[in-house]
Amino acid sequence: MTVNSRIPGLKDKSVAERRALVADGAGLDVAALGVLDAGGIGTVQADQMIENVIGTIGVPLGVATNVTVNGRDYIVPMATEEASVVAAASNAARIARVHGGFRASGTGPVMIAQIQLLDVADAHGTRNRVLEAREEILELANAQDPVLVRLGGGARELTARVLATRDGTQVIAHLYVDVRDAMGANAVNTMAEAVAPVLAERSGARSLLRILSNKADTRLVRARAVFDAELLGGPGVVDDIVSASAFAEADPYRAATHNKGIMNGISAVVLATGNDTRAVEAGCHSHAARDGGYTALSRFEKDRDGNLTGTLEVPMPVGLVGGATRAHPAAQTAIRILGVTSAAELAEVIVSVGLAQNLAACRALAAEGIQHGHMRLHARTVAVSGGAAPEEVPEVAERLVKDGRIQVEYAREVVAALREKAR
Ligand code: MEV
Repeated sequence: MTVNSRIPGLKDKSVAERRALVADGAGLDVAALGVLDAGGIGTVQADQMIENVIGTIGVPLGVATNVTVNGRDYIVPMATEEASVVAAASNAARIARVHGGFRASGTGPVMIAQIQLLDVADAHGTRNRVLEAREEILELANAQDPVLVRLGGGARELTARVLATRDGTQVIAHLYVDVRDAMGANAVNTMAEAVAPVLAERSGARSLLRILSNKADTRLVRARAVFDAELLGGPGVVDDIVSASAFAEADPYRAATHNKGIMNGISAVVLATGNDTRAVEAGCHSHAARDGGYTALSRFEKDRDGNLTGTLEVPMPVGLVGGATRAHPAAQTAIRILGVTSAAELAEVIVSVGLAQNLAACRALAAEGIQHGHMRLHARTVAVSGGAAPEEVPEVAERLVKDGRIQVEYAREVVAALREKAR
């Protein structure tokens, strides 16, 4: 079915009305969203996932609207505790939509496993002996996962590096594995452990660590969009966003914050779909430091028509099978709302949302400043912290904004005054 992610006025609806609209937009029965009520997971299920379980902790789940990637619309579930993230992504996606939305592409789902070889006398000889065992190692690796091989994946390549360390010279073998729709950690770690003793034997070294690398630079995904100059606020705003981008490219202090803005979008979708946020974050930050210094993950430039072009490229090791993506009912529902059918498609949506989030932050910073919009939304959280009951939150939040005092102490006073008045 064709999804329409343009759902105007969603923010003004009740949760029940939103669910009906989202279910309708995604072609699902609204009952399927009922699982989201208690965070989608009970303590019995949680107890099967990790150790020493004492409960669960809920995170708000919203949906970003207006997202178009490669000509297809997506309603994008985002799990985050931060106010204004979902609204900002939706706004930026609306601006990108005018020029066709996001274009995304990727390298294919290849993960790397590292096998560390020690006690090497002749490092270069050891490296060559590793490479001579290529056919045997690939065959042995593939024998570990016939299902993956049947699905068109499997071990593809073996390389080796000589590494000078403070503990002497080591040889590091890299096994490249096409993991298809999996995140791939289990598949590649199993292969690495299986081939390590044979690699050690053939190369005359001792194997130590056998583990995937989170620097997943053979699983890159990139997104691009044109953001309309007029909708951004005019040519001056375009120039200022370009200057903001140049600042982040040149300065690691700014780059860390710029990239944090990107991760606000990326991690929210990664979490909502039950994927490994830490793996993705490690991959993204290692990519930001790939040339030695730490820099911005995205670039903003002015195109020939005076519009703003945004580009973002990051490793995106996410899966649709295995792990919490399958075990967590809310994650399953999030994936159904998204309607993606492959890990590559999921990754393209995630990176597009990262770019949308980044644009929204840079636009706000270059125009009115971040606090204006952020504090309006943040006022609701402050109202709750100040003791406001759900039905009191809108009035209390509005008062905090109007008085320009978005503070918990003041929220407490406003709540008390409101109750006093109602008595
Ligand atoms: C806040 O969560 C994220 C921002 O700081 C990102 C940025 O500065 O680009 C607004």
